[in-house]
This record gives sequence, C-alpha cells and structure tokens, in this order.
Amino acid sequence: MTARDDAGTPQPTPTTEDAVGAVLARLAPQEKASLLDGSDFWHTQGLPEHGVPAVMVTDGPHGLRKQPTDGDHLGLGGSVPATCFPPAAGLASSWDVELVERVGTALGEECRAEGVAVLLGPGVNMKRTPLCGRSFEYFSEDPVLAGDLAAALVRGVQSQGVGTSLKHFAANNQETHRMSVSAEVDERTLREVYLTAFERVVRDAQPWTVMCSYNRINGTYASQDPWLLTDVLRGEWGFEGLVVSDWGAVDDRPLGVAAGLDLEMPSSSGASEAKVLAAVREGRLSQDDVDRAARRVLELVARSQPGLADPRPYDAAAHHALAREAAQRSAVLLKNEPVSSHGGDPLLPLQLPGSGVVAVVGEMARTPRYQGAGSSQVVPTRLDDALTALRDGIGDRASVTFAAGYPLEGSPSAGASAADLGAEAVDAARAADVVLLFLGLPGSYESEGFDREHLDLPAEQLALLDALLEVSDSVVVVLSNGSAVRLHPWADRVPALLEGWLLGQAGGSAVADLLLGAVSPSGRLAETLPQRLEDTPAFGAGFPGEGGVVRYGEGVFIGYRWYDSRRLPVSFPFGHGLTYAAFLYEELDVEVVGSGASAGLRVGVRVTNTGRVAAAEVVQVYVADPEASVARPDAELKAFARVELEPGQSRTVSFELDARALSYWSPVQRRWVVEGGAFEVRVGASSRDVRLREAVQVTGEDLTPPVAVEAEISTWLDHPVAGPALRSVLERAGGGFLGMLDDPDHGAMFRAIPLVRMARFPGFPATEAELEGIAAEANTPSRP
Ligand code: BGC
Repeated sequence: MTARDDAGTPQPTPTTEDAVGAVLARLAPQEKASLLDGSDFWHTQGLPEHGVPAVMVTDGPHGLRKQPTDGDHLGLGGSVPATCFPPAAGLASSWDVELVERVGTALGEECRAEGVAVLLGPGVNMKRTPLCGRSFEYFSEDPVLAGDLAAALVRGVQSQGVGTSLKHFAANNQETHRMSVSAEVDERTLREVYLTAFERVVRDAQPWTVMCSYNRINGTYASQDPWLLTDVLRGEWGFEGLVVSDWGAVDDRPLGVAAGLDLEMPSSSGASEAKVLAAVREGRLSQDDVDRAARRVLELVARSQPGLADPRPYDAAAHHALAREAAQRSAVLLKNEPVSSHGGDPLLPLQLPGSGVVAVVGEMARTPRYQGAGSSQVVPTRLDDALTALRDGIGDRASVTFAAGYPLEGSPSAGASAADLGAEAVDAARAADVVLLFLGLPGSYESEGFDREHLDLPAEQLALLDALLEVSDSVVVVLSNGSAVRLHPWADRVPALLEGWLLGQAGGSAVADLLLGAVSPSGRLAETLPQRLEDTPAFGAGFPGEGGVVRYGEGVFIGYRWYDSRRLPVSFPFGHGLTYAAFLYEELDVEVVGSGASAGLRVGVRVTNTGRVAAAEVVQVYVADPEASVARPDAELKAFARVELEPGQSRTVSFELDARALSYWSPVQRRWVVEGGAFEVRVGASSRDVRLREAVQVTGEDLTPPVAVEAEISTWLDHPVAGPALRSVLERAGGGFLGMLDDPDHGAMFRAIPLVRMARFPGFPATEAELEGIAAEANTPSRP
C-alpha cells in the first residue's frame, strides 16, 4: 500500500523503527495529535503527505465483521461474509490450545484477505455472573483457562501478520451501565482474578493492541487510568503495543493520553485533537506524551504493512471444515445415562440401525442459534443446521421426523401458536424411539449492551420439555445458549444432555457428528452451571450495583472458586464433560522444585483410555493452599492438557508449574508471594471429580512483616526478633502485662491492641521511644 501526498506523489510507507522515527520527527504538533484519533469508524488517521496510510481495524472476535462502507458498530448493518467460528463461550469449552491457535490462524488469513490490519478480539473478561449479556463473547470464569486459550488465538492471528486487540481491559464484567459503572474491586481480587488472563496473554503472545474498557475501576475510567494502562500493563507485564479505546470509551482525552491511551476510536471528528493541542499549549499535557502515543500509532501502521501489501485469498471450504472441527470439540456432553427401554444402554451415540424412528424436535434444530448479538455478529459464509445434517447422517438407517415444538423469532415458526406446535411435537415424540430435543435461548435473550435478568429457558420450551417427558423416556436435550441456563431440576429427568453453547456456522453438522458418534464429544465446561441464580457469587447487592457503583464483595471467590469453597450443590461443575469413552488416572507424581520466590512444582500423571472408542480427556491440575494466611479458594486451576487417546492407549502427561501457581497477591506487600507450608495438588476431570491428590510441603519466602509501634501486639509477639525483645522488657518489669497477654481466656483481646496504645496505659514498662528502638533493631536485616 502506497500513500500519496496531496499532489499525488507516492511517499514511502514507514515500515522500520528508523523510518517511524524519521516520520515522527517531521510531523507538526497538529499532525501528531491527529494520529491519536481514528479517521472514521474503522480506520486510523492517515497522513498521505508523510507516507502514512490509514489502516483498518475491525471486529472480531470469532469471525471477521468487516463492514463494506462506513458502517455502524452495533451489529445493525451488514458485513462481508466470513467464517463464523464458535464464539468464545463455545470455543473455550474445547480446552484445546492447539485448536484455538489454528482458529486464530484462519481468522488471521481472513483478515489478510480483506485488508484488515487488526482484528478486535479476543475478549478475556471473567464470567463473574452468568447474567452478563456478553458472556458468549468471553472464555471462562477462570483466568488461567481464559488466558491460555486467548494467548493461543492471538498467536494464531498474529502469525498471519495481522494484529489483535485484547479486550476489554479491565473489569468489564457486566453490560448494565457499562459505559460508566465503577467496578469497586480490591487489588488482590483484581490481580488474582480480573487481570490474570490479560497478563498471561500479554506475557505469552504480545497482542499488537489492548483495548481499554468503558467502565471505571475504583472510580477511575479505564481509559484514563495510568496505573492500569502504564504501570501494570507496560511496567510490570512488558506490553509493547498500542492501547486503543473501546468505541466511545474516552472521557477526558488529554488525561487518557497522559495515562497511556494511545488511540481513540472511532473518530471524534477532530474534537479530541483540539483538546489535546489545547492541553499541550496550556501545559496540562506534555508533548512527550503526545509523541509517544503518535509513535505507537505509526508503529502499528508499520507492522501491518507486510500483511496489507500481500493480501491472499483464503480457502472458505477449509475454514468451514475447521469451524466444524472446532464446534465438535466445543460441545459438552453433560449427561448420558443408561435407559432401560434401550437395553440399559445410554442414548448416545444413537444406535443406527436400531433407532427406528428419530424425532427431531425444536425450531433450533432447523433455525440454528449459533452466535451472539452486537458488535461481534458475523455474516457467515455458510450455515449448517442440525436437522439437515442429521437427516444426511442418518440416511436410511432410521426414519427422521421433525416438529418445530415452539415458536422462535426469525424462523418459519415465528408467530405460530405454542400450544399447536407443542401438541404436534408430542405426537411426533409418541411415535418415535428417540427424541432429539433442541432447546436454547432465543437471540433476543442475550446480547452486548444489556444483561439478562434470569437464567431460565423460555417458558414455552420448558412446557414442551415437560410434555415430551410424559410420553417418552428417551429424550436427548441439545442446548444452544451463549451463557449458562438453569437446568435444575429438569436435568435430573433427562437421560442425555448436550450443552452446545453457541457453535458457529458449522455447529449444526458438528452436533450431528456427535449425536451419531462419528466423533466422541470432548468439550469440558469452562464455567460452572449453577443450580439457581440465588447461588451465584454476585447475586444480590453485588450485581448490577447501585448508584453507578458495583462492589465485587465476593472477592476472589467467583465461579467454581465460590461454589466449591462453599460446598454449594451445582448442576454441573467447572471442568465437567463426558465422552463416549472412560479414562483411568494413575501414578500421580508431584515434585517440589526450588523454594521461596522461585518455588515450583513438577507434576506427572498417567492417563489411559479404558473405553471402546477413541476420545480426548482434559487433564486438569488444581492447587489447594489450605494453610494460607489469606482466604484462598478451595482449589484453583493451574494447568490443563487435552490428550487424545485410542482405546487402551496410555500417556503420561507432564506439567511444569511455576511460583505463580503457588502464590497469592499479598495485599500488605503489594506483590505476589509464595507462603510456605502444605499444598495439595489435585488432578482430575473436573473441579469436583478429583481422581488423584498429593500433599507436598513448600518452603516459602520469608514473609515476616516489618514491625512498627502501631502494629498489634500479636504481630510483635510473632516476630522472631521483636517478639523475644518485647517479652524480656515485660518480664523485667515484673510480668504483669505479660501474664495478661498470655492469659488463655482473655489474652487474645489484649494481643489485638496496637502496642503503642498499650504503651500509653498506666504502668506500662517501656516508653514509645524504647519500643521504636526495638522495632528499628528488629527490622534491620541480620548480617551474615
Ligand atoms: C465493543 C467492542 C467492539 C467495538 C467495535 C464496542 O461497543 O464493546 O468489543 O470491538 O465496539 O465494534
């Protein structure tokens, strides 16, 4: 791509660091400021007279949404056809890093074919509540799983010379008041839960850009938070790319530039440029800050040039096949129990021939629900529906009937009477040997921009389910939903249940592959399926907040960290998912490596496929820290691996866990710490299906806190130097105070008093100055 100046003379596009520096040096202040703003909805600002083209950035994340003209960003206008891969809620259930990287590569190829410099994704916000309207676009309630999968996606896209935008940084966990709400989160919770996925992606994959979120965090807009955008992102994690605003997330542009927000999108039509120039003139913003942001825009343009200069067509058929493979691996078989009318066998995979009449019920089998609404909505290159795929797959091995069962917006059954459709479906079920019932959330239930109010499926679908269970004991339910729905208590009455999430454009054929046994299911839940909304961590005052503020009072306890620590019953736990095989875990071997801040664990376990078909197991490693001096979850996922095994095949799976897997964020020291003591490593097939466990002893860091006269007496007594020194002072004075402190019944009350307060009580045997002397001595590091 060659830019031209006003006279039409071609200017070389800067593609190296030196060239970027040379262009920057030539730019007038106004030109630099103009680079900090987009030129329209989807393009950066070009400076043709300096050889700087405008480049296109566009959504994302699970497919390309390139709008042909100026467009809107709310999903209202059309976009060029592109492969619609499973959105993150589906893809994450694959727990398959290698697959996600291949999907990323395909996305990168499509961007390249369409001349797109940056794909706006992936989104790695945590699923704090299943009500979040955008849950379908996020990976998980666990930051290690979300971070590792998103890093793979970034690596894949960027391998094609196309950038990504890691979003929405940070603590954007709800849609209600998303553009203004302040997420009030303590630092430990932020670090351990809400920032970790971003950190993993930045450290592992260096996304070209990070997109700041709309919301405020502890009162400060993410778009103008120097701690977030510079100290943590760049200073601590080493981010080298550009920070872009979410579309319309800018509040005070000069503050944003100073904080590290390089590019505002979409264009502010010159308003922000004027504000930035005025702020520099008035000394409120330094020219260096403007230069730094302008340089990052030029660098982004430069790194996208090789890809843009060499667009290549992509293979749409191959991408559809990949979308089908991804969907096969993303659906989660939640339940598959023996049924007496089927000779005591489970219903899945369908026995063919032998199934007689298969009734496919549910409009979603014919009119698939395969992606969410909003800025991520893709126009697919093709669309498979399960009904056609099942008919094709079954052929003449059984007879297939269909009934819509319930009306669905935007489908042939829209506007029909639920009662009539239901009655027709009951007749079909009565005449069938097996019923495949497709239920799910209609598109209007979940979208960017608003949150859900409940977890329930539509009432007419639940009524249909009840009616079918009256006439058949062979009902397989297949779900299509971007976020968790309530399965309790009806799931107990259904013998087989496949959670299809949203599976992208090839979801219909992938579901048929799974039901017919062409492929064994291998997805695992990336989020807990709770029994009731009332059980969820943020229920009540914690969501969606009041008065513009949402308090994350549950702290680090979200997802399974909450349900498992509280021993709450759930419908299906985090990490759960069945296959058509079974797996044996043996020979767990855990070795502690190193100590203190560089302690780690080496974990090995042997897994065998004891079933009769090839299938994949997802081996999950959880670490428990029962002796921690802060409240830690029952156990936390620290590593995982998807292993494909033939029947009878075994493999030893190994994991290296670094110090971070043992650490917590110390709110006192404001850093990650490894606190020594007993840890337990749990290996299994879900957070609640622990197959093997081993306790280990870890030698931690020296975490003795410094003592100060304001510290409580218990802190002094626990201190290896200050404790004995204080005791001897008290003993010398006759021991009255000491007796009080050591009193088995009431001592705890006195030990909780700050020493300086006690020192002011009449008769205390040491002055404040003497205690300060002891503290200074105790805090001096001992010489070797
Ligand atoms: C969304 C982003 C998206 C952007 C551009 C915003 O409303 O929050 O995720 O990338 O629009 O469409």
